Amino acid sequence: MTVNPPGVHRGLAGVVVDTTAVSTVIQETNSLTYRGYPVQELAAHRSFEEVAYLLRYGELPDAGQLREFETRERALRPLGRTTAELLTRLPSTCHPMDVLRTAVSLFGAEDPTEDDGSPAANRAKSLTLLAKLPVVVAADHRRRRGLDPILPDPALGLAENFFHMCFGAVPEPEVVRCFEISLILYAEHSFNASTFTARVVTSTLSDLYSAVTAAIGALKGPLHGGANEAVMHMLREIGDPGRAAEWLDGALAARRKIMGFGHRVYKHGDSRVPLMQEATDRLVARTGDPEAVRLAALHTALRHAVLDRKGIHPNLDYPAGLAYHLMGFDTPAFTPIFVMSRVTGWTAHITEQLDHNALIRPLGAYNGPDQRPVPMAV
Ligand code: ACO
Repeated sequence: MTVNPPGVHRGLAGVVVDTTAVSTVIQETNSLTYRGYPVQELAAHRSFEEVAYLLRYGELPDAGQLREFETRERALRPLGRTTAELLTRLPSTCHPMDVLRTAVSLFGAEDPTEDDGSPAANRAKSLTLLAKLPVVVAADHRRRRGLDPILPDPALGLAENFFHMCFGAVPEPEVVRCFEISLILYAEHSFNASTFTARVVTSTLSDLYSAVTAAIGALKGPLHGGANEAVMHMLREIGDPGRAAEWLDGALAARRKIMGFGHRVYKHGDSRVPLMQEATDRLVARTGDPEAVRLAALHTALRHAVLDRKGIHPNLDYPAGLAYHLMGFDTPAFTPIFVMSRVTGWTAHITEQLDHNALIRPLGAYNGPDQRPVPMAV
């Protein structure tokens, strides 16, 4: 257990830094709302595009508004020439999150719209990101297999189009729906590390692309978004459901963090997990694949063992990691998929930060040497 010196709040734990109208975790009911709407209800009844609109404008769209939003998103999907060309020149060893971070820098370089930092300009840029990020993630997914990219299909919704661009086919509606549920659950989570990063950059009056580039860097780490990939690596390392408890004892004895478990805000279970776990269970049930069934059994065994040994609950990354694997995505694509979704929350927070901006500049409690004279040069 870390002990903070007096007046110091390491990791800003428990510190309230600003107000926000984008989302909140309601501690008493362990629930999460986006703009006042429970995320479970949004995930059950709405599309990802509707939720993206809600986060952006504060209200759900009517039919006409949704049509217009979708039309604009579909038209913005094709990558600019410079971006498309430069991305193919990145080394094949480049981490997919680094590809994405580079792509967002290039979007900024290619964006012809005026950068006056106004809400209208930033909303235009955020739509560009929503439309183009899946194209980059899908192209990179194919590149890892030595395959050429597939152009986006403007007849398809965002989730369906993503499958089309990755695999050249759209799976059954139930699979697409599970994917869409994951995107809705991942979209926004108040002042998490990557969103806070975006707000810090924005608070200096830097531009939206710089803020999102920095946020991608923050999300990449395994204590944050990188955990959904780390879950799959961990399941592979354990290998067999019968080994889960023994593996866990060894990992805890080595003081390893168990990926996909624990949360800074939720201490009695992540409110997003039950819905994502149900969706993942449906994916397991529809595949007769013995390997998927074995992996799901291992996933369950580890969840029970962690709860039993440490009393720690899974976070969203735990079921989402397995779900993406069952949908056919390779492990390095998991955190980039998280980006495709969370960009909606980041950009809503960037607009909000600018609405009542104050430079984010905390203090540090100095514990270095006392003041001393510089020795004479020798
Ligand atoms: N595995 C093992 N022990 C854990 C875990 C875990 N996953 N999570 C918390 N603990 C233990 C800590 O070791 C600590 O025990 P101690 O008091 O005996 O030292 C105690 O629980 C408190 O943990 P902290 O790390 O101080 O809690 P914090 O709120 O800072 O951590 C965090 C939150 C970073 C997410 C942590 O739970 C963790 O590292 N989890 C694994 C990574 C992960 O899944 N990240 C995804 C977060 S959710 C998201 O980004 C969608």
